[in-house]
Amino acid sequence: MALLRIQGGTALCGDIVASSAKNSVINLISAALLADGSVTLGNVPHLRDVSTMIELLGHMGVVVVINDRMELEIHPNAITSMKAPYELVKTMRASFNVLGPLIARYGEAEVSLPGGCAIGTRPVDQHLKGLRALGADITMHEGYVRGVVSGRLQAARIMFDFSTVGGTEHIMTAAVLAEGTTVLENCAKEPEIEDLARFLNVLGADIRGAGTSRIEIHGVERLSGGYYEAISDRIEVGTYLIAAAASGGSITVNNALASHNTALLAKLQEAGAAIEIGDNCITLDMTGRQLKAVNIVTGPYPAFPTDLQAQMMTLNCLAKGASSIQETIFENRFMHVPELIRMGAEIELQNNNSVALVKGVDRLVGAQVMATDLRASASLVIAGIAADGETTVDRVYHIDRGYQQIEERMQRLGVDIRREAR
Ligand code: EPU
Repeated sequence: MALLRIQGGTALCGDIVASSAKNSVINLISAALLADGSVTLGNVPHLRDVSTMIELLGHMGVVVVINDRMELEIHPNAITSMKAPYELVKTMRASFNVLGPLIARYGEAEVSLPGGCAIGTRPVDQHLKGLRALGADITMHEGYVRGVVSGRLQAARIMFDFSTVGGTEHIMTAAVLAEGTTVLENCAKEPEIEDLARFLNVLGADIRGAGTSRIEIHGVERLSGGYYEAISDRIEVGTYLIAAAASGGSITVNNALASHNTALLAKLQEAGAAIEIGDNCITLDMTGRQLKAVNIVTGPYPAFPTDLQAQMMTLNCLAKGASSIQETIFENRFMHVPELIRMGAEIELQNNNSVALVKGVDRLVGAQVMATDLRASASLVIAGIAADGETTVDRVYHIDRGYQQIEERMQRLGVDIRREAR
């Protein structure tokens, strides 16, 4: 196991290029199973979650090659097994989303239920409701979901009970090859959903309305292969902007769309940062400015993303004044709080641990802390950069799921950070 050792007190300065969106790429890999031909994904980030997806497809007999341009070539027609085992699905819940494409294309699949997760129970009831509505016969057996359909799935009108990103993506991919026109209502509107629809349309699908609450999917008989590059990672972009703000630095993030981070940019401005928006880049300057505490309520896109809540809490810990941070998406996403308190933060949890009241302090002090999930670990790295003295962040494998080369990138931005084996 590795840890990150950070000597704090340096302001983050310089520029970086954001990677492709992890939460898009892993869904594009699942959706590639629908294609009757080779799919090539460009600019794929080097992340543990992407490796898990490659391993899962490999386990199913699908040939996946990383070519000399570092593109991912997926040859879905080589598939030999429609089973996704517990050992792989439990390490990354999003891999559950191979179920729909497999049923749609091959008429059968067996995929492990993902089980619990550090940030919440995360049920898949909306996924299963959608697949059943499309005509799949869904049964459970020994922790596995088995889905079967004879012939093609049949179009349906499906109303999600609430906004679900993974549920919307999953049912969209299942409906692509269904007979007739499927209408999904009350859909999640995240940019990654639009990206998935664009990708499927490149392969020959006919999806309209992705990015709005109503998506129409005109079923087609076959998808071809094709080439696609995912959108940039708005959460990685946001994490680096927050890190620069919290450490009093300045940064330009390239390959960054301001329109995907509207809620964050408004909060960073409210917190006192100067922000300039370019064509495909965002510059933030916090040098010589005082951080002000800002209230946050997380919510489905375009509201403030839960995936940036932990990082923003670190910023609030160092800001002038008190703030409240309300988490509305996941029931257990404050596990960074005890770790930040170890570094001198003043945070109190209220309302059944759904609200954190943060009182800004003059400084955080380096300590040994433990990462508990991907975004929590990012908040601890930011805290370590801004703190006085040395911080070690243990269980770095969490951060490797979603941030490529974090220590190299942070080093290039002037941070004294290194990875050590333990
Ligand atoms: N939910 C249900 N039933 C369902 C589906 C969801 O109760 O059938 C609940 C969840 O438990 C949660 C809420 O609905 O409380 C929203 O879940 P959603 O389905 O929207 O989230 P997800 O698809 O599981 C994706 C991202 C998460 C991100 C959330 C919210 C991927 C691979 N994951 O998860 O990303 O936090 O949307 O934006 O796209 C991360 O990157 O660190 C991460 C956790």
